[in-house]
Amino acid sequence: MRAFLRSPKGARMSGKRRESLIKTPKQLVTVLVLAFIVPIVVIVLLAQLATSGRTYDEDARSPEAIAKRIKPVAEVNLGAAGPAGKEPAAKADGKAVYESTCMACHGTGVANAPKFGDKKAWAMHLMHGTEHVYENALKGKGAMPPKGGNLTLSEAEVKAAVDYMLGAVKP
Ligand code: HEC
Repeated sequence: MRAFLRSPKGARMSGKRRESLIKTPKQLVTVLVLAFIVPIVVIVLLAQLATSGRTYDEDARSPEAIAKRIKPVAEVNLGAAGPAGKEPAAKADGKAVYESTCMACHGTGVANAPKFGDKKAWAMHLMHGTEHVYENALKGKGAMPPKGGNLTLSEAEVKAAVDYMLGAVKP
């Protein structure tokens, strides 16, 4: 009980000590507001630091990422230009090109397309020479669409597919 009665004195003493730091209610409110805002600002800044570090430095600015982003625009040219990435390997693979694009018609002879492996049919088309056949494969002829309808193929890819088909009808 005595201790309780004395406590106001103690409170006054501790209040005195606090007075040196926060003198008015206004300052108290300021401190409370700052205590609320400062951590949020710090967290936001840290989050920005963390995310920007990841996307800019490692992923987005790497040559591969840039090449990937511009790929849709440059794809056709890349294939024709040659020694960059995986395109050249695919270009040389006439079988793969044939199976992905040409087989739809040339596998069964749709619309009178010279059938794969049909020597007689191909002999007729080869009458004017192999260069002429390349030319028709690239530019189209009758029901044969240019590049077999797949305009993303490079010239070399189409020629490789023609070579693949001609290889099957060689005497
Ligand atoms: C939509 C069906 C179709 C597709 C797909 C197609 N062709 Fe053809 N192709 C034809 C037809 C039809 C002909 C016969 C055209 C004619 O003689 O009038 C033909 C003819 C050809 C010829 C003979 C050209 C000549 O000189 O007479 C070649 C070579 C050829 N195609 C290559 C290809 C290649 C390579 C592909 C795949 C990249 C392909 N074609 C995809 C339908 C197709």
